[in-house]
Amino acid sequence: DEAITVANLAKQMGQKAGEVIKKLLLLGLPASINQALDFDTAALVASEFDFEVEKVGFEEEEVLQTQQDREEDLVPRPPVITVMGHVDHGKTSLLDAIRKTNVISGEAGGITQHIGAYDVKLENGHVVFLDTPGHEAFTAMRARGAKVTDIVILLVAADDGVMQQTIEAINHAKAAEVPIIVAINKIDKPNANVEKTKRQLAEQGLIPSEWGGDTTMVEISAKKQIGIDELLEMVLLQAELLELKANPNKPARGRVIESKLDKGRGPVATILIQEGTLKAGDIYVCGVNSGRVRNMFNDRGKRLMSAGPSMPVEVLGFSGVPNAGDQFIVLTDEKQAKLVAEHRSLKLREKELTRTSKVTLESLFDQI
Ligand code: GTP
Ligand code: MG
Repeated sequence: DEAITVANLAKQMGQKAGEVIKKLLLLGLPASINQALDFDTAALVASEFDFEVEKVGFEEEEVLQTQQDREEDLVPRPPVITVMGHVDHGKTSLLDAIRKTNVISGEAGGITQHIGAYDVKLENGHVVFLDTPGHEAFTAMRARGAKVTDIVILLVAADDGVMQQTIEAINHAKAAEVPIIVAINKIDKPNANVEKTKRQLAEQGLIPSEWGGDTTMVEISAKKQIGIDELLEMVLLQAELLELKANPNKPARGRVIESKLDKGRGPVATILIQEGTLKAGDIYVCGVNSGRVRNMFNDRGKRLMSAGPSMPVEVLGFSGVPNAGDQFIVLTDEKQAKLVAEHRSLKLREKELTRTSKVTLESLFDQI
């Protein structure tokens, strides 16, 4: 499924793109300058210019393949936690409460940046929280086979009980095979009903351990800062069971958690590093973009020279804005990174073109 754009083909033959387009039109194949041509079409039009098109395979997998880590190279890494729950059940309040227990939040110059992830150092452990604004990012990543979360904290307000998005969150976590720790929130409210909430959770298959099930449930108040330490203890306990490890001594790989186009700084993305160590100056490919780490920062806006597994970092230096869920891969060769990115965007364009032509055809039928 190799393809080449009209512009690129023209360039390689030393022709004007307009000439190639004209020839294509004469062949009954109207095309635009950025259109991707399949091999047969490219070969046909090239023969009109007395050129032969050669098939050179480009195996992305070959360029991107890595060696399996040896057991002795793996070292423990912090767990990555996502807090999920129904709207207004206290996700933001919980993250605020947790950040208050962060022993490093009081550091000089510690201004919290919004990078969609927090690195929280507790007295007896280190955890990373992902602050997904909705479930869309989670869904998008799952659809692409990306697993970024080790543990889900399911937040349920004890006054509301299990709601629509609570059930959705449970389904997401189950489908992704991520362990769930339930935090029953707002227990300070007079109309809080913990028993009823537990019963509703049990109906969804989450049986509290005190009822003989295997789901840890912690009663908390994010607002009154009750039960937060216990919840974090349970998170660390669960993380220990998972024996999370990664090899820090190799080029980094990770996922895009968040991205945006910053007016002053250009494309910016938060990358969760999943293995290896990312260093300033590293060359990478990320979705259809490539780049070089021009600058990187932690969640407190501190500039970093390197970052290891489970660390969320804000990276500057992208050729364009990547998508949440895109894989981020460090390569040693800049040419290769560009080649992979180009190859991917070509494929993407091809796909979009097929889609557009299908739509056109259908609307044509509609008119008839
Ligand atoms: P969305 O981001 O809109 O989905 O909401 P959220 O889940 O982040 O909830 P948020 O933390 O914004 O809390 C919603 C409301 O519940 C706010 O008014 C909070 O002050 C309140 N709230 C959160 N936790 C508690 C709690 O433990 N007790 C009480 N009484 N109120 C709480
Ligand atoms: Mg919120």
